[in-house]
Amino acid sequence: IGNKIVYIKEVDSTNLYARKIALEGAEDGTVVIADAQTAGRGRLGRNWSSMAGKGIWMSVVLRPQISPEEVQIITLGASVAAIKAIYDVTGIRAGIKWPNDIICDGKKVCGILTEMNSEVEMVNFLILGIGINVNHTILDFPDEIKSIATSLAVYSGMNDKKNVKLFRRSDIIKKLLYELEQIYNKIKKGAVKDIIDEWKLYSATLGKQVRVIYKNDTYTGTALDIRDDGRLVVKCDDGCTRDVFSGEVSVRGI
Ligand code: BTN
Repeated sequence: IGNKIVYIKEVDSTNLYARKIALEGAEDGTVVIADAQTAGRGRLGRNWSSMAGKGIWMSVVLRPQISPEEVQIITLGASVAAIKAIYDVTGIRAGIKWPNDIICDGKKVCGILTEMNSEVEMVNFLILGIGINVNHTILDFPDEIKSIATSLAVYSGMNDKKNVKLFRRSDIIKKLLYELEQIYNKIKKGAVKDIIDEWKLYSATLGKQVRVIYKNDTYTGTALDIRDDGRLVVKCDDGCTRDVFSGEVSVRGI
């Protein structure tokens, strides 16, 4: 991963750009990095604030031999890779909120958006998009996300407002590409269980009270476990156990 890196100063979305070059034949592991995105995309149709120079806005073209149902494992694996890279470079211990939000102090510091080419039997390519808020000050975030977003710099300076640390984005990118490569090799070898086990180590969701919103359904319960295909198992307050494949999960207390 990262044998070929395309760097762009400003783009609508690195995911869209990566998709375009994937359709033109970009090879497995091609990375697109932008300094700024003008239309960064988030999960569930949301947008992703991507100011110039403040964060890592990156997408990877992957061509794994997997079925669409297995894509979730790549997303979970990417969150493990991101959390390790963040810890390695900054010493910050973040947690993962299912499926792949990376959280510090209850606020989101990194998000992952995996997009597939289409509803086909075998995945032809997929785009793994990773956004990490690195050097924002709290004032840099738009008002509507100030209460739910943070950056590595803000978090590291929480107890020392005068001494906010800035991090070199290239250090994090280097480590992230290395960790992604490890995870990708494991997935190609079928070592999915290893990835799930690692994900559990960093989970900020399991054992917690959760509220799940999926389409028009909302239910609350305790997050019990995660299955090998990435589904979250929730013991609902009504006594039923449900498997959650997608949707929005909020965790009480974070
Ligand atoms: C989320 O909603 O949590 C996912 C956010 C993903 C943001 C990244 S930034 C790089 C890539 N390009 C995009 O447009 N989105 C992803």
